[in-house]
This record gives sequence, C-alpha cells and structure tokens, in this order.
Amino acid sequence: MNARRDDHVRERRVQYETAGLERSDLDASPVQQWHRWYDAAVEADLPEPNAMVLSTIGTDGVPDSRVVLARGVDERGITFFGNYTSAKGRELDGVSAASVVFPWLALHRQVRVRGRVERLLNVESDEYFASRPRESQIGAWASPQSEPIGDRAELERRVSEIAARFAGVVPRPEFWGGWRLVPEVWEFWQGRPSRLHDRFVYSRDGSITRLAP
Ligand SMILES: Cc1cc2nc3c(=O)[nH]c(=O)nc-3n(C[C@H](O)[C@H](O)[C@H](O)COP(=O)(O)O)c2cc1C
Repeated sequence: MNARRDDHVRERRVQYETAGLERSDLDASPVQQWHRWYDAAVEADLPEPNAMVLSTIGTDGVPDSRVVLARGVDERGITFFGNYTSAKGRELDGVSAASVVFPWLALHRQVRVRGRVERLLNVESDEYFASRPRESQIGAWASPQSEPIGDRAELERRVSEIAARFAGVVPRPEFWGGWRLVPEVWEFWQGRPSRLHDRFVYSRDGSITRLAP
C-alpha cells in the first residue's frame, strides 16, 4: 500500500500544454503582470487565488513556510496580515526578509517574489482590521497564534469572553496587523511540454531576464 502510494507520488507527471510565455507577452511592470495572472486565476475559478506560501527564516536559521492570503499587491509591495507574536511575526522581527510563492497550479503557473518585509503603519492595519467580519476580529483577539493551547474548549471560552468584552466595535489588538513584502525580484513561471518551461525574472532595475527551466 505504502509502496504503491510512493510510486504514485514519484511517477505522477502532468504534461503542460498551456500556451507559452514570450518576452513580448509580459507587461513592463511585474505588478501589472501579477494582476493579469491573478485575474486569469480568478477567471479560471481557482480556489483562493490570493493564497501564497510565505517563507521566513526561523530563529534557528531554518526556513519556515506557511500559507497566508495576500490582501494587496501594488507598486509598494505585497501586503498580508496576522499576529505579530506568532512564529512568523517573531521570525520577521529577527530577519525582516521573506519569499512568497503563488501556486496557480491548475494554470501551470507560479509567481515567486523575494524581498525585505516591513510592518504596515498602524493606521493601515486599523483600516484593514475594521473591514474584517466581526467573527474574524474576535478570533484575532482570542487566538494566541502559534502558542500551545489546551483544547478547543479553551479557544471557544476565549472567544465568548472577547465577544462579551467588545459588545460594539472590536478595536484592533496591538499584537495583530499587517506586513508589506517589498519585492527585490519577481519570477513568473509558465509550465510547457517536456519540462521546457518559460521563466522570466524581473529585477529591481526594471530588466527582464529569461531563465533556463
Ligand atoms: C488558505 C489559507 C489561508 C491562510 N491565511 C492566513 C493569513 O492571511 N494570515 C495568517 O496569519 N495565517 C493564515 N493562514 C494560517 C497560516 O498558514 C498559519 O497556520 C498561521 O499563520 C500560523 O503560522 P506561524 O505559526 O508560522 O506564524 C492561512 C492558512 C491557509 C491554509
């Protein structure tokens, strides 16, 4: 059974027949190019098209990855939100750099971005927090993200306490907010037949370079 499962993982191959990516197809701006591909991901009905794998450097020097949702992509960078005291929060306090990957697998595409990370201004985090559903706002208060927790009942008890404490507007906890990844490098990858994929890298100086697959 396990051997068969291992074989399945090892032997699985998808032939990518999608149209290729030429230099002339690319927008001069990686941000605009990202938006074109994001729109295509939405159009194709991909689940969670704004989900990205965020990798930080662990306090032990080992990379650490998890999925988070991009909440804005513009010329300033890519924003995402979470708990500042979580593992990722502590790691970004230690090394303020990260990489993200948007895995748009059904379209045979990925976008990789690397850069420095900065915290958003409080006013930016406030604005986003205020736009979240009340349940998510309460959840942000109730969850000591990445800390051990006894059981589910403890979490639910904390949710009830917070809900009672903030009967009206829920303010943003100061331990919760956003970050901005300020891109140094973007890579757009399009799968092609026989593993001869198309890869283009945008550098900070505006140049675009094709890489071997
Ligand atoms: C689809 C998806 C979206 C997620 N979005 C977020 C997010 O926007 N912010 C966040 O803090 N965690 C998000 N998570 C949870 C993270 O993957 C992770 O469990 C959490 O941030 C704690 O990670 P850490 O212990 O490395 O800090 C998401 C998970 C999934 C699967």
